[in-house]
Amino acid sequence: MEPTEFARQFSRFMSWAHEAGSGQADGPVTSALRGHLGADAADLPVVVRELAPFEQVNLQIALERWAADREVEVVGYSVPPHHMHPELAQLLSGDGLPPLRRTAPPLADLPSGPGRTTAVWRTALLLVGDDRGDYAVLVRGPERHHEPTLTVEVAGLAGPQAQEVLAELDELRARHNVYRGQVLELRQSNAGTEVLFPVLPRTERADVVLPEAVLARVERHSIGIAEQRDALRAAGQHLKRGLLLYGPPGTGKTHTTRYVVQHVPGATVLLLSGRSLHLVGAVTQLARDLEPAVVVLEDVDLVAEDRGHSHGPQPVLFELLDAMDGAASDADLLFVLTTNRAEALEHALAARPGRVDVAVEIGLPDADARRRLLEVYGRGSGLAVDAADGDHVVAASAGVTASFIKELVRRAVLEALLAGAVDGTVTGEHLRRALDDLLDSTQEVTRALLGVPGQP
Ligand SMILES: Nc1ncnc2c1ncn2[C@@H]1O[C@H](COP(=O)(O)OP(=O)(O)O)[C@@H](O)[C@H]1O
Ligand SMILES: [Mg+2]
Repeated sequence: MEPTEFARQFSRFMSWAHEAGSGQADGPVTSALRGHLGADAADLPVVVRELAPFEQVNLQIALERWAADREVEVVGYSVPPHHMHPELAQLLSGDGLPPLRRTAPPLADLPSGPGRTTAVWRTALLLVGDDRGDYAVLVRGPERHHEPTLTVEVAGLAGPQAQEVLAELDELRARHNVYRGQVLELRQSNAGTEVLFPVLPRTERADVVLPEAVLARVERHSIGIAEQRDALRAAGQHLKRGLLLYGPPGTGKTHTTRYVVQHVPGATVLLLSGRSLHLVGAVTQLARDLEPAVVVLEDVDLVAEDRGHSHGPQPVLFELLDAMDGAASDADLLFVLTTNRAEALEHALAARPGRVDVAVEIGLPDADARRRLLEVYGRGSGLAVDAADGDHVVAASAGVTASFIKELVRRAVLEALLAGAVDGTVTGEHLRRALDDLLDSTQEVTRALLGVPGQP
């Protein structure tokens, strides 16, 4: 920042501070709060509850419902730049407060469903009156550049009554949870935690090309258990389960997971990958509230390597495994873990047995699978290939991944278009040419990107 610009901002800040702080000894928010609570409020505790930041939308909906049944005045205020939002105890005492200005409560617009958003209070002080008496609730959402927490505080009530208020809000949050039955993706960035509602491409059994025994094993352990949940519960069997899919990149671990999550009846789906894997503890709690639920932990080998090159313990991975263990075993929770490098997890999984009950290898497609992949991806692309060309391509593509075959078909379509195929038919000739091109020695990087190890 330029010095002159800094000076200008600083003097603007000082005059603002002076103006906002002048007049009464207590700022406008403190005097409104004290006026509402009466003289002896200082003798009562302030009860603080921290919630996961992604609960902000649910909290807002809960608060609005809750407020409808009692008298509530919503007080908003703004805090000068670079100041943290004060806690309720501080608002009440007035000690060391930055100068606050009463405003409408600042709002954030957050996703609350596929293609839907809800405006939530970033900070709001509620002056409440109901049969418990007069009291106050302060809501503070995650703040940029500060701890990404969501807190609810209650002042003006005895401890047990304040806890009762928090319990009412918990109950409403659970009852009206906007995440129930949805597919959610959690993203962790420097700005905090983001919840997205991705629309997954519809994936049916026939779209998943795997050896029948492999797919059946995956299904039995995921969809199968979900379908039998009542009978299993009645028989006192646990429902919580962990499934690990491992194998080289591009073989369909993510693809298979998409098929599974769309076929577990009634499930809420929580997708975590990369940095958001760190949220697994809070997300498991959410999954328990919303069961049946599927928690997908993508590419967990990255977390295993989080600690650099040391061979010491891997706290994040252990945290992840402990979160899986912490959930009650009769909870209908499915954890799906995927990894390209099972050996990076072996040690941790062996040290924490019982978290993953089934590990399924998703390998490179064999000749039969490559033929089926050609069919699956050729369908709808106008692929018309005779048996001899098909056999040739299947034989010449030994060792490639499933995603390679998908790319091969895409390129064959492109070849046909470039060659000016009149009726859009993609022939064996186009397919062979696309294959030669992809297998060409100059295409090593392309092959690496498609997950084909070494020379096919
Ligand atoms: N076994 C498979 N059956 C059908 N399509 C597949 C298969 N494996 C991969 N694909 C296709 O390739 C794409 C990339 O595969 P992906 O599932 O992301 O691989 P991985 O997660 O194992 O690295 C998928 O979106 C899908 O279109
Ligand atoms: Mg993947």
